[in-house]
Amino acid sequence: MTKWVFALLAVPALAIVNVAAGAADPLPYEIIGDGIPAPLSSNAGDPARGRELIVARDSANCVLCHAVPDAAIRFAGDVGPSLAGVGQRLTVSQLRLRVVDELRLNPATVMPSYFKVAGLTQVAAPYAGKPILSAREVEDIVAWLATLQ
Ligand code: HEC
Repeated sequence: MTKWVFALLAVPALAIVNVAAGAADPLPYEIIGDGIPAPLSSNAGDPARGRELIVARDSANCVLCHAVPDAAIRFAGDVGPSLAGVGQRLTVSQLRLRVVDELRLNPATVMPSYFKVAGLTQVAAPYAGKPILSAREVEDIVAWLATLQ
């Protein structure tokens, strides 16, 4: 009897969680030329959240290798190029592929593929290993990189 009550309560609750997380995310992505033109997430990237992710140094530990033009970052590595002005050098599409899978552009790179999906170009992430960053986090970071003019 208790089991049935739980089952009835659980179903609507799950539906709500799904809607909140954006049921269609992550969107399948396609590499065209040296970029990924379409967003990975149905939520538009938020540059302020992207900056927070980078400053926090958690999973997106970009400053381990890149200098970034931000007063909050005092110590940064120099294994990779400075990201100052990167939004001018690269398009949003190019930035997205570099964060998703730099290895694809340079098989010798030390930069992690933050959203690699098992060598294929059109696979939804839940079916292919766990990416370092979520689709939404990639979009937030790309939105912030684009502001670095
Ligand atoms: C372990 C070191 C390392 C980490 C961590 C790293 N990168 Fe990189 N990144 C590199 C290197 C090295 C390059 C130079 C290109 C190459 O190696 O293919 C690069 C290149 C880039 C480029 C292209 C720059 C240009 O001017 O062409 C972008 C954009 C970039 N990284 C963004 C990021 C972001 C955003 C993060 C964090 C989410 C990050 N990187 C984390 C090492 C790193």
